Amino acid sequence: MSDSKIYEPSAEFSSRAHVRSMEERTELYERARANPEHFWAELAQRELSWFRPFAKTLEWEPPFAKWFVGGKINACYNCVDRHLDGPRRNKPALIWEGEPGDQRIITYLELHRLVSRFATVLKRLGFETGERAIIYMPMIPELPIAMLACARLGITHSVVFGGFSSEALKARTQDLNATLVITADGGWRRGKEVRLKTAVDEALEECPDVRAVVVYKRTGSDVPMKAGRDVWWDEQDEQLKDAPQLEQQAEHCESQDLDSEHPLFVLYTSGTTGRPKGILHTTAGYLLQTLMTMKWVFDLREDDVYWCTADIGWVTGHSYIVYGPLAAGATSVMYEGAPDFPAFDRFWQIVEKYRVSIFYTSPTAIRALVRQGERWPEAHDLSSLRLLGSVGEPINPAAWEWYHRVIGKKQCPIVDTWWQTETGAIMISAMPGAVPLKPGSATLPLPGIVLDIVDSKGEVLGANREGYLVIRHPWPSMVRNVWGDPKRFEEQYWRRVPGSYFTGDAARRDTDGYYWVLGRVDDVMNVSGHRLSTMEVESALVHHPAVAEAAVVGKPHEITGQAVCAFVTLKQGDWNVESLGQELRQWVGREIGAFAKPEEIRFADALPKTRSGKIMRRLLREIVTSNSVTGDVTTLEDLSVVTKLASQHDEE
Ligand code: WT7
Repeated sequence: MSDSKIYEPSAEFSSRAHVRSMEERTELYERARANPEHFWAELAQRELSWFRPFAKTLEWEPPFAKWFVGGKINACYNCVDRHLDGPRRNKPALIWEGEPGDQRIITYLELHRLVSRFATVLKRLGFETGERAIIYMPMIPELPIAMLACARLGITHSVVFGGFSSEALKARTQDLNATLVITADGGWRRGKEVRLKTAVDEALEECPDVRAVVVYKRTGSDVPMKAGRDVWWDEQDEQLKDAPQLEQQAEHCESQDLDSEHPLFVLYTSGTTGRPKGILHTTAGYLLQTLMTMKWVFDLREDDVYWCTADIGWVTGHSYIVYGPLAAGATSVMYEGAPDFPAFDRFWQIVEKYRVSIFYTSPTAIRALVRQGERWPEAHDLSSLRLLGSVGEPINPAAWEWYHRVIGKKQCPIVDTWWQTETGAIMISAMPGAVPLKPGSATLPLPGIVLDIVDSKGEVLGANREGYLVIRHPWPSMVRNVWGDPKRFEEQYWRRVPGSYFTGDAARRDTDGYYWVLGRVDDVMNVSGHRLSTMEVESALVHHPAVAEAAVVGKPHEITGQAVCAFVTLKQGDWNVESLGQELRQWVGREIGAFAKPEEIRFADALPKTRSGKIMRRLLREIVTSNSVTGDVTTLEDLSVVTKLASQHDEE
């Protein structure tokens, strides 16, 4: 594949870019490699606003890293306050488009006001530095406002994607020992209301530590409010007006001086067990690297209108809707709803309306839009676009070419960005003014990122050999720990190749040094760019009274990359397999969230297992991929099981 088509950056793009040539990129990369600590220290001093400078750049006691030790800083101050003293004061920070078509444009000055007021509300409710808040909100401006208000006070936030069920919400609230929940009555999705407060009430039945629930009114539907616990956001804000002095203070709520390593947020992500892990990110390093990648990868300029279509409930939204763009002083578009609502041109309508210049989305979204045909984008003026981005899964060359031709009119470079919840910021991507593109490859590592491809023994593999992708040297925005479980942190990421970070991805490096990421090597599926663990879905399924055993695998899917396919054996009983399939799908939706519902449920008499009793997912994967089984099956307990499963598809 190294002989695939190559797209050189145009002279026009390069001439105005932050990094203008391959020579410049190599120089930067080599400088970082020669002395990473010096490289990052210089950037941290120059790019972040400190209350007290740091004394030491890195303390590395594998696998625990501390960056910019001794420094005092505040993420909210860096994202908001520091832009107020210059020409950015009245620049739009957020351009928000609601699904029903409502719109809000919030300048940096106004953002400062809103965040300060809400931070004051939280303070008056008795919350302080060191506590933890769950944020469960739709994609409305109050979501980043709540995050920033928490960051301002040093309250560690954990945003739970609005698509997660009350069960998932409960598990996260408990794991985090959160004392505060910030939510809304509901949000809009494809014209329907997603009722968030109802889910919160269910979840909190078993979360006694939560002292308050702040509810923002978005949809206006009736929600029960629990006395002594639940308060309305707007009523709390109203109360600030009662005393003129209080209101004055509220609008200038001081940001806390926090340590560089103060926990900024925890974001739960699926691992290889049934229990999601809380990925911990801290303040200074995370902020620095999300900010730097805004420049290196998105080539951000002062007049850009930047739009990342992700949901803030995932890491992409944290780093590239909230912290990165705001730390960089960008104008960032935020959209509440679905790409296909009310019609398939919603994205392009928004690009045209706000003259979006940088557009960042997922391969799944692109493939879904490819299917709808070119007439949707063609109906809109997309000439404001100058750079396109992709994230979440490998982008297949056909989708890449369509994106380039139909959306970018062959004028816009595409940055295919590889990273993970754990890496905090983009690790592999082209610098668009410098690096020639190969469709399907995320291209080269960014400055400060040292990668290798290794085999199962940790031996480095040469060009074009497939192996595990590892990261060699600590980087500022790296995961610091798994919340409450340092052992799992060490085992999951640092044991496989001692001293190196294990990504869980397979990859290949071609003779030009370009990386081709192939996908996960563990039992983690990637559905629409969202990580989902096979075990998580399995444990949801076996909770159902009819299910004896379940094995879940990802099956290739034209649009979503992978789809969830579940093999299920039933307990004794008179089950109606037709209706049970539907019921189990709903069940998984309730236990985890609608996005985790299996696309396919296959009932089997038995599941293929090794002699030691482990389910052989590899075989099941082969069955759903090709409906044939190859390779070594001698460890199988009952081979007829496999044959039967494999042939089942042909009979259907
Ligand atoms: C996994 C991380 C942080 C992005 C959102 C998903 C896959 C992500 C790419 C890409 C190939 C990619 C990997 C990775 N992935 N981006 N550009 N090319 N694969 O974050 O939920 O933490 O998932 O997504 O498999 O390990 P996540």
